[in-house]
Amino acid sequence: MNRPNIILTGFMGCGKTTVGKLLARQLQYEFVDTDHLIEERSGMSIPEIFKSRGEAAFRSLEATVARELGAGEGMVIATGGRLMLDPENARILGMSGSVFCLAARPEEILQRVSRKSQAARPLLNSPDPMARIVELTREREESYARFPQISTSGKSPQEVMQDILARFRSR
Ligand code: S3P
Repeated sequence: MNRPNIILTGFMGCGKTTVGKLLARQLQYEFVDTDHLIEERSGMSIPEIFKSRGEAAFRSLEATVARELGAGEGMVIATGGRLMLDPENARILGMSGSVFCLAARPEEILQRVSRKSQAARPLLNSPDPMARIVELTREREESYARFPQISTSGKSPQEVMQDILARFRSR
């Protein structure tokens, strides 16, 4: 593999897209965001897909995208928060490069997702988004823990990018 991919996973609001764009620029890689790709392909926003076709249909679109991207190289891929928790997606994308899991505390996640519209994240569209974040984080923490962890707490996106770059280059 000449130009192995970098695959970013982690909970919603951990900065995968922001950091991924910086990384791609630095490495002169192509930046791909799986949520955006799915939106482009289906001509619908993520909330619309969840609403009109259901979560299972969205997960199956994610699997298609994972298979496709796993065959390429030279990409920084920011994945939707659950995409890499599917074993087949993780296997396919994992073979195409290095995976890093961005981590943040629930309070920081809430702050970040509140800056954008919470409606853009159907799974957090609840009267008590903090409780949902805590619940989903607990459900998923064991699965995320399988990937190399990158803490984002108190760091700027630039610093997180440098951390990943150092790990990627020393792999
Ligand atoms: C999801 C995360 C979202 C998006 C969808 C479901 C999840 O992506 O794929 O709303 O299950 O964690 P981001 O992690 O980019 O917000």
